[in-house]
Order: sequence, then C-alpha cells, then structure tokens
Amino acid sequence: MSEPTKPYFVHPTAVVDEPCTIGAGTKIWHFCHICRGAVIGSGCILGQNVFVASGAVIGNRVKIQNNVSVYEGVTLEDDVFLGPSCVLTNVSNPRSQVLRHGLYEKTLIRRGATVGANATIVCGVTLGRYAFVAAGAVVTKDVPDYGFVAGVPARLKGWMSRHGHLLRNPDAKGILVCPESGYRYQEVEPGRLRCLDLDEDSPLPPELSVGRRPYRDFKP
Ligand SMILES: CC(C)(COP(=O)(O)OP(=O)(O)OC[C@H]1O[C@@H](n2cnc3c(N)ncnc32)[C@H](O)[C@@H]1OP(=O)(O)O)[C@@H](O)C(=O)NCCC(=O)NCCS
Repeated sequence: MSEPTKPYFVHPTAVVDEPCTIGAGTKIWHFCHICRGAVIGSGCILGQNVFVASGAVIGNRVKIQNNVSVYEGVTLEDDVFLGPSCVLTNVSNPRSQVLRHGLYEKTLIRRGATVGANATIVCGVTLGRYAFVAAGAVVTKDVPDYGFVAGVPARLKGWMSRHGHLLRNPDAKGILVCPESGYRYQEVEPGRLRCLDLDEDSPLPPELSVGRRPYRDFKP
C-alpha cells in the first residue's frame, strides 16, 4: 500500500526525523533537518539549510530564511520572520567541558516579530510582538512590542509598524501613523506602544497583506 500523501511538502534532500509535528501547507526546502519531537505549525516556509531541534516550537505562517538553526528552548510564535543566517542560542555560558543538557535557556519570539539577516539573539530574551531586529544586531535584552533595535549590543532606536516602517514624527497627541497602512500607533504608557486600529492578535485584512510599493518609496 502506498503511503498517504502528507499535507506538507518536504524537499527530497531534507531529513525529517519522525515522530514530529508539521502542519498543513508547510514547505521544507533543500537540506533542512527537522529533529524528532519538533513542532512546526501550518503554512510555514523553511528555506535552505534550516535546522529545527527536538523541543523547538514553531507557530503558524512562520518564515525562516536560509541557514538558520532553531534550537531547543526556542519558541517562535505565529507569523515570525527570521532573516537569512540569523543566530539563535540556548546556553549563555557554554563550555565544552561542562555538560549542560537540560539547562537550555528559553528564547521567545512573539507574534509577527522580525529578526534581520545575520543578527544574533542571545538566549533568555523575549522579542515582543512585531518587534524588529535590524540586520547584524546582537540582542542581549528583551525588546518591547513594535520595538526597533539595531547595533551591537542592540539598542532600542524607535518603533516599527506592523508593516515594517519606522514610526516617526508623532502629532500633538503622540500618535504615529504608518505610511503604508495608515494605521495609527500610540505609546499608551512609556515604553508600551499599541496599534489603535487593529488588535495585535488579529490578522491583517487581505488588502493590507500584500506589499505594493518598495520600502524606499515610503521614506520621508
Ligand atoms: C532596519 C532597516 C529596515 C532600517 O533601514 P533604513 O530605512 O535604512 O533605516 P534608517 O536609515 O532610517 O535608520 C534608522 C536608524 O537605525 C540605524 N540602523 C538602521 N539599520 C541598521 C543596522 N542594520 N545596524 C545598525 N544600525 C542600523 C541607522 O543608522 C539610523 O540610526 P540613527 O537614527 O542613529 O541615525 C534596515 O537597516 C534593516 O536592517 N533591514 C533588515 C533587512 C533584512 O535583514 N532583511 C532580511 C530578509 S532578506
């Protein structure tokens, strides 16, 4: 009897150690390795050479670019984007002579957050919802929802909208407007930004889910 067709796609060069959980519509491309016990949601895309450890948890619609390892202790919520060759970690003080299996530290990347190419996330931190880590940053501390961090070590430099635009020039009431979506954002208390027009847990409406103009068109 032939095997039932799986509801997800695995390229023939990828290795998937069973049992593990992979949701419908997920695509796993060339040379990936998914370990036994990994949990990957539906509608995800794992680019070339992505490693997912046993115990790693990946939500729905997560996009992982080439050459990323998602270690045990890492949780990626829905709609996270990991840029190419970014680095996640799970032990703060690794020493080859000291076994620390089972002492893995947690990293939580919350819904809709982006990690730029080649950035490093030191373990134990949480990236808030829609946080944005610039390319090449080294993140050593928690980042708030919509926080934009850059540099080594990464510093909070501002706020990034859900559509990935720096939010500048607040009006008299402190309202910031995303140049692409028109959504309004406001710091409801110091250090806590909220979108006034769409709840953080709601999906984007279809008309705002497709980019139509390049990033630089929106720069002031
Ligand atoms: C974050 C990003 C979108 C900002 O782009 P930008 O429009 O050129 O940014 P700006 O010039 O307005 O920069 C705002 C500030 O952040 C700094 N900055 C921006 N990107 C930075 C980076 N990668 N590292 C360090 N600092 C950075 C700028 O120097 C500027 O600092 P200042 O206010 O002190 O002068 C872009 O730099 C980036 O990192 N994008 C990620 C790309 C990526 O990894 N894609 C992966 C998929 S292919």
